[in-house]
Amino acid sequence: MTQIYTILGLESSCDDTAAAIVRGAVGGAGDVLSSVVWGQEQLHADFGGVVPEIAARAHAERLDLCVERALDEAGFTLADVDAIAVTSGPGLIGGVMSGVMCAKGLSVGSGKPLVGVNHLAGHALTPRMTDGEEYPYLMLLVSGGHCQFLGVYGPDEFTRMGGTIDDAPGEAFDKSAKLLGLGYPGGPLIEREALEGDAKRFKFPRPLLDRPDMDMSFSGLKTALRRARDTLVADQGGITVQDRRDLCASFQVAVADTLAEKTRRACKAFGAKTTLAVAGGVAANSVIRAALQDVADEQGFQFLAPPLKYCTDNAAMIAWAGLERFADGHVDDMSLSARPRWPLDRTAAPMLGSGKKGAKA
Ligand code: KG4
Ligand code: ZN
Repeated sequence: MTQIYTILGLESSCDDTAAAIVRGAVGGAGDVLSSVVWGQEQLHADFGGVVPEIAARAHAERLDLCVERALDEAGFTLADVDAIAVTSGPGLIGGVMSGVMCAKGLSVGSGKPLVGVNHLAGHALTPRMTDGEEYPYLMLLVSGGHCQFLGVYGPDEFTRMGGTIDDAPGEAFDKSAKLLGLGYPGGPLIEREALEGDAKRFKFPRPLLDRPDMDMSFSGLKTALRRARDTLVADQGGITVQDRRDLCASFQVAVADTLAEKTRRACKAFGAKTTLAVAGGVAANSVIRAALQDVADEQGFQFLAPPLKYCTDNAAMIAWAGLERFADGHVDDMSLSARPRWPLDRTAAPMLGSGKKGAKA
């Protein structure tokens, strides 16, 4: 008989404090009974990026409230859950520690098993929770902190096929928005400006396309945008509204083209024609989404973009990844530690660099 589990998930690795209750069984989609996300955008807005100390303090203050609300909304108490899943890395260490400590306290208090979850596995397994997607599938994770192609073969079985060697695309959007005085988070603001911009006006680079692999680089793009802006300022004393729109449109299409071409290569390298799934906040961008959909169609892949609320950071994905681990017999004890770095694919070379949104995995 299929075993159904009810899992409480906790997430606090970056700038969202989240708790969720998910119920389900391995082999089908999960039911998200509640998913509470308390964002911290306003706390970090003045800084143009996440300030780790501010984030950690806010997580510590808000986690138990989020858990209480998630249980209330699901109509449950802690006694009704089978296990407590928590992001134990990778991420900003203060936030991850807040989550792990909170989960340990709940576990000791309730006697419920504790399951540590890799935040990236949470993103990577989201299509299983939302759509009951079968293994294996190809995942492009594009957020403010991450950018990688993953072959997803099982709850603990991933191959990292390539990724950014410096900034993540969301980070590039955020930094570029800051350069243009647009605010934070930058992605949606740039997308809005780009609607009335000329994407062909500025010739921004498509980095690393000369290399046959699936690695990417986005930090040069932001530098190119800064140069274009500075040239305009030097020539005309400032930038007009239309200049800004054109800069945004040209930048956005450069990111979309780069992601699309590398995705084409990943599809070819993956072998099996299955599903290309996306996760991460950048997947919200309609120009990027359309470019990825085209590549999937062309390569004979099904394209799957889960609902945005499960693409961006949330605790339902952590509960689900915990559910799959728990069903596999995995339980952690009080020695569970918070890990700033935790690559999903233990055979791949570690990524260098640490961006505004935390350590790269
Ligand atoms: O997945 P997410 O909520 O958090 C992590 O980074 O883990 O992603 C947030 C990132 C931010 O960098 C934000 O600027 C970017 O996703 N983003 C977008 C869009 N919406 C959010 N980037 C481009 N276009 C968008 N519409
Ligand atoms: Zn994330």
